[in-house]
Amino acid sequence: MHHVRFVRSWGVPVSRLVAVALAAMLGAGSLTSVAGAQTAKQDFDKYCAGCHGLAGKGNGTQPYVMPLTPPPDLTQLAKKNGGVFPFSEVVDIIDGRKNIPSHARLQMPFWGVVLQKEGKEFTPESDADVKRRITALATYIQGMQEK
Ligand code: HEC
Repeated sequence: MHHVRFVRSWGVPVSRLVAVALAAMLGAGSLTSVAGAQTAKQDFDKYCAGCHGLAGKGNGTQPYVMPLTPPPDLTQLAKKNGGVFPFSEVVDIIDGRKNIPSHARLQMPFWGVVLQKEGKEFTPESDADVKRRITALATYIQGMQEK
């Protein structure tokens, strides 16, 4: 598409937006080899805080690929759901492999894929580890809920 370099959105050349997207994807991918039992806080600070902020308030410092859809405030999920934290839905959203109609997936990486053990992707062992980490992340986010 030879005309792409003339397209600009929000004053940022598209090539720059693509570079940011790729950097975000590659950055997350290269971290999958980290072995061992990361705590949910370590995982959150490393993989999520860039967009959602360290406290989950949605004010991370990472440049957004799509400025019109800033990362949501993760401290309001219970409040928005009648005071009940939607635990299993949050697990599915983080994982990303199950389609959730009410949640358009525009920018967020599919963590159920990204966090797989390198060289052992989608083996029962790796899948169990991913499930453990994502469940721990959901529990960590549950602890951030504002009343
Ligand atoms: C590249 C930026 C980015 C990163 C990194 C990121 N998110 Fe997100 N997240 C988003 C955006 C943007 C949305 C809104 C849906 C969309 O557009 O993809 C979202 C949505 C969510 C939601 C649903 C919120 C709601 O209102 O229902 C949860 C839960 C969530 N993210 C958790 C996480 C967790 C946990 C991590 C780390 C493992 C993470 N996110 C990493 C950008 C990000």
